[in-house]
Amino acid sequence: MSSNYYNTLKQTSDYIRQKIHKTPYIAIVLGSGLGNLAKYMSNAIEIPYEEIPNFPRTTVAGHEGRLIFGELGGRDIVAMKGRFHYYEGWTMEQVVFPIRAFKLLGIENLILTNAAGAVNTQFRPGDLMLIKDHIGLFAENPLRGENIDELGPRFPDMSHVYDRELLEMAAECAMRIHCDIRRGIYAYTKGPSFETPSEIRALKYFGADAVGMSTVPEAIVARHMGMKVLGISCITNMAAGVLEQPLNHEEVLETGKRVEEKFAALVTEIVKSWP
Ligand code: 6GU
Repeated sequence: MSSNYYNTLKQTSDYIRQKIHKTPYIAIVLGSGLGNLAKYMSNAIEIPYEEIPNFPRTTVAGHEGRLIFGELGGRDIVAMKGRFHYYEGWTMEQVVFPIRAFKLLGIENLILTNAAGAVNTQFRPGDLMLIKDHIGLFAENPLRGENIDELGPRFPDMSHVYDRELLEMAAECAMRIHCDIRRGIYAYTKGPSFETPSEIRALKYFGADAVGMSTVPEAIVARHMGMKVLGISCITNMAAGVLEQPLNHEEVLETGKRVEEKFAALVTEIVKSWP
């Protein structure tokens, strides 16, 4: 069973390998509204998800499904435009499938980005936040089930999911390009409904600064496989109960668009400076 899944992954990474020239140094998963990073890449080779064996297909408006291989800041990267969310109905195994395929491709470095609501009332829409740690207690664990020993251990340590050296490097990059940056704890919820004000109060009590519907499953499997992880949240809106106005997905996408240039400049500087 587990080796079957491993063979499926291998088939996928083998397919991708024969489509590209060089193994990317870093994989970047692009959050909602942040997909335009592709615009800043050169010598791009795009592979739509439909063409990739065993890849799931995206559905939600605002998410497109393709891998973009190319150069950014002088380095070979792959950008994943359109991720698989649990709330769309994918199993956790499907949600994390691309991350595992990246690792089998030989990629050791991962940047996870997302759109998130602010739980911390000091934060504002348009802020960028480096993820110090996460809270994923409220979701199914992507490692549930028989362990895939080829990928990693049964009980992986999660003491340092987000690499501290990379976080400091990213903070320095932000300073260098005069980009204000926050640091905080990202809480994961399954979605697709946004939280109630009481749920946000509970998350705040748990220490969360931001809340979103992605990233944590991918970060867990990446660490399971020993990849280095950096997480960046784009604060797109205040979480429920902070303001009088209701929350909506359009606001999430609009803020993402507004921050696009700042976000791309920061990610480019980070990729350039990656150790
Ligand atoms: Cl307020 N909650 C969640 N779960 N995800 C979000 C969000 C809020 N804002 C953007 N994404």
